[in-house]
Amino acid sequence: MGGPGKLAALTPGDTGEVLTLQRAAFVTEAQAHQDLYIPPLTQALADLPAELGERCCRGWGIREAGRLVACVRAHVSGDTAELIRLVVAPDRQGLGFGTRLLLATEDLLPPQVRTIGLFTGQHSHANWRLYRRHGYRQTHTTHAGAYLLVHLAKARPHRSGAAAFRPGRS
Ligand SMILES: CC(C)(COP(=O)(O)OP(=O)(O)OC[C@H]1O[C@@H](n2cnc3c(N)ncnc32)[C@H](O)[C@@H]1OP(=O)(O)O)[C@@H](O)C(=O)NCCC(=O)NCCS
Repeated sequence: MGGPGKLAALTPGDTGEVLTLQRAAFVTEAQAHQDLYIPPLTQALADLPAELGERCCRGWGIREAGRLVACVRAHVSGDTAELIRLVVAPDRQGLGFGTRLLLATEDLLPPQVRTIGLFTGQHSHANWRLYRRHGYRQTHTTHAGAYLLVHLAKARPHRSGAAAFRPGRS
């Protein structure tokens, strides 16, 4: 199990670290789908500060000894939030950071959010397991080149944010 890390909201000042982490983490997804041009890898540095500063976009990350090791963003529209770019640094994967950030994010979303959606690639079987374990169920698929994106959603659970981000919980 990874250390507790420190949860913090992302700001436009985190842009460089977020993009670096995103690119490093999504290489395995690109390889799994034989597509080097997936949006997380092609997103321009210039687009990120605006995205992190938008009212409809919230982002959170976990820092370990100051280093950003996990992050996620959420686009909020009405009573729905879509989580995108949940990533953990390659050398810190499989230690519980992704789970903890996912659960913390579900709690930190604005109060009006009732439904949480996300998507993953059709060949991302480990991601499916993670999302299914936490109650996400497939709603539909969309085409992305030669493969499908699988969209999943769940009703927002009622938990306290502090409980969801207790150190060591996964
Ligand atoms: C997916 C990801 C965020 C999960 O975070 P994590 O900290 O590695 O995951 P946790 O340790 O909290 O949980 C482990 C579970 O996550 C899933 N998982 C997905 N990718 C994984 C990876 N590379 N290593 C370990 N677990 C992974 C599995 O379901 C695993 O459970 P399992 O033991 O039943 O296989 C992270 O592995 C990652 O950044 N992957 C690359 C980018 C990506 O695919 N992001 C999701 C986009 S939809």
